Amino acid sequence: MRLNEVRALVTGGARGMGRCFVEQVRDAGGVVAFCDVDANAVAEASVALGVPGFACNVADEASVQRCYDDVVASIGVPNVLVNNAGITRDGLFLKANPETGEPVMMDLSRWQQVLDVNLTGPFLCTRAFVAGAFRAKAAESVVVNISSISRAGNAGQLNYSAAKAGLVADTVVWAKELARYNVRVGAVAPGFIRTPMTEGMKPEALAKVAAGIPLKRLGEPTEIWQAVRFIVECGYFTGRVVEVDGGLVI
Ligand SMILES: NC(=O)c1ccc[n+]([C@@H]2O[C@H](COP(=O)([O-])OP(=O)(O)OC[C@H]3O[C@@H](n4cnc5c(N)ncnc54)[C@H](O)[C@@H]3O)[C@@H](O)[C@H]2O)c1
Repeated sequence: MRLNEVRALVTGGARGMGRCFVEQVRDAGGVVAFCDVDANAVAEASVALGVPGFACNVADEASVQRCYDDVVASIGVPNVLVNNAGITRDGLFLKANPETGEPVMMDLSRWQQVLDVNLTGPFLCTRAFVAGAFRAKAAESVVVNISSISRAGNAGQLNYSAAKAGLVADTVVWAKELARYNVRVGAVAPGFIRTPMTEGMKPEALAKVAAGIPLKRLGEPTEIWQAVRFIVECGYFTGRVVEVDGGLVI
């Protein structure tokens, strides 16, 4: 698909990588809308980018359907979906309480929130998107899932690793099941990228991370866009993951 034929919906598009993808599609002559759970950030980004934005929680079924309908009313039936919205709630599965020696386990809410947003979110958004494309008899549709190199299993990220690995498994299943309906599905697994998500980390922790990356720096959102763009443009790409991580292996 050529970029000027793209009609994209980007989730989590008010900040970070999602915002970068929105800008890039717009600047390449495509049509784009975005959604984000933060209504204030949606309002700001929508004005700043000159692109329609909608408040939506990707983990909520009704919210996703409402958002999809609003997007269709605004830009028409989208032919590209970027499942980008994601959160982290990092923590060890088990920590010993230093005073009592008792085990302190990851609580269910920390597990559930990350699974809800990072795995159920793409399920709900892809469901609405594919049903819409099917009804519209779209000639070609593309789903890009933003996974992570943490899918390999990163200590301190049990919840996040599970969700991002699940998203890659779903990428393969969707690619196999939906090819007959002219839907391609690919994933990008970024390493550490400079966005509000990583800017929230302690500077010492970030410096340590950067030192362990063969390219010795964090990636830029535009470098992840290059992989998203490849998946959109390459008509023979489906069911695979592009890793963009500066050579870092988890
Ligand atoms: N930054 C990194 O180093 C990195 C590395 C690998 C993968 N990723 C993944 O890339 C994606 C984008 O990350 P980022 O660094 O730009 O994050 P970010 O926190 O900077 O931006 C994420 C955006 O998603 C929105 N969002 C969160 N929960 C949502 C929900 N329930 N519904 C709708 N929107 C929601 C947030 O409001 C925010 O605007 C995420 O899926 C993340 O897991 C990031």
